[in-house]
Amino acid sequence: MTPVAPALEGPAMPMLAAAAEEIPLAGWTREMKQSPLRDILALLQRPGLLSFALGVPAAELFPVAAYARAARHVLRTDPEALQYGLPLRRLKSHVVGLMARRGVACTEAEVFITSGAQHAMSLLGQLLVAPGATVVTEEMAYDGMLNALRPLQPRVLTVPSDVAAGMDVGALEALLESGERPALVYAIPEGHNPLGASMPADARRRLVEAAARHGVPVIEDDAYGLLGYDDAPAPALRALDPRWTLYVGSFSKIMAPALRAGWIVAPEPLVQRLSILKQGSDLDVCSFAQRTLAAFLDREDVDAHLARLREVYGARRDAMLAALAAHFPAEARWSCPRAGMFAWVQVPGADTTALLRRAVEEAGVAFVPGRAFCAAGGTRGGDALRLNFSRPSVDQIHDGIRRLAGVLAPRGAAGIRPPFLTTTSLAP
Ligand SMILES: Cc1ncc(COP(=O)(O)O)c(C=O)c1O
Repeated sequence: MTPVAPALEGPAMPMLAAAAEEIPLAGWTREMKQSPLRDILALLQRPGLLSFALGVPAAELFPVAAYARAARHVLRTDPEALQYGLPLRRLKSHVVGLMARRGVACTEAEVFITSGAQHAMSLLGQLLVAPGATVVTEEMAYDGMLNALRPLQPRVLTVPSDVAAGMDVGALEALLESGERPALVYAIPEGHNPLGASMPADARRRLVEAAARHGVPVIEDDAYGLLGYDDAPAPALRALDPRWTLYVGSFSKIMAPALRAGWIVAPEPLVQRLSILKQGSDLDVCSFAQRTLAAFLDREDVDAHLARLREVYGARRDAMLAALAAHFPAEARWSCPRAGMFAWVQVPGADTTALLRRAVEEAGVAFVPGRAFCAAGGTRGGDALRLNFSRPSVDQIHDGIRRLAGVLAPRGAAGIRPPFLTTTSLAP
């Protein structure tokens, strides 16, 4: 028998490439660009590189042994473990428990299991955004929501981001007062990616009130909501008003991203619609992962697990803040993250996009330039860096920040200075 794969690698390739050029693509896919975050992934392949770049959990904190026990248990006892299956009720019941830890009272019928938060945002986008509709995001935000919406080609409006408090809710209120009726507002109130900001309680209340007053759904991306380091994180938006908030949660940051499991909390009638919608792209969220996660949560102490993550990541957050104060130039300012995995650092006058290559080549350290997060082709964040503190160890953080500072600029005169960014909008 002739193997198929080798034939594809041979002289047939130019012909295949020519054919690909001629295949008529959907118009919007011609405009597609790779996310800058994906481009940075390529840079990170260098051996020995110390990365502060991506929002990845620390692999040494994955509960490998307990998860292996749960997987073995499922395979031994559940004949349906590898079969197509309905969304697992036991997992939904655990999600209800996790939501209570975010101050949200919900029922299993309001929980919709997805293959991660990204999948959740894609489905919610399809559910809410009609052709030509308007959506609102922050000028600085995780680009996953806009990526998910791209096939729908919405009109994108942005509101300013505040480096200390996240979304500028006053600007959103003004937009809605002006008569705009977006199909959705995308918000990351806790452990903001990339700013590391947590929205103050008052801003949260104003946001849900404005959404209810104008009848606009808010997608609350709470991927980092269970990772709060100081006092208990403020309750989720959905805890304040469930009517217009569609909540998105994820097991990626608290368990492991490879499980590809997350959830939506939404009113029950929308859950039924989501279920029909999902069948078009994904017959089942991996039923084995659902069962194994549920078995893990049945048997293990999830609060002890979360406490361990908070303890280790909290210490790394503290190490990063201390290292920035010790090594970064005197004019630099940074956020003091209460939750999540990122610190946002502004270095006035720096061009952090140009700096990245030098940082990789000269200091063996990587980060994400702030501009990568600027929505809708904007240019803000050019003097900023997003630094991840969850993955590197405390020692690596001290060493890496020192090396990075060496590439940035020689340290200015030491002295006492207020390092934390205060409430300053990134808008002009
Ligand atoms: C704010 C935010 N939302 C959603 C996601 C996607 O997470 P998931 O792995 O659950 O798809 C990420 C991933 O980094 C994120 O930072």
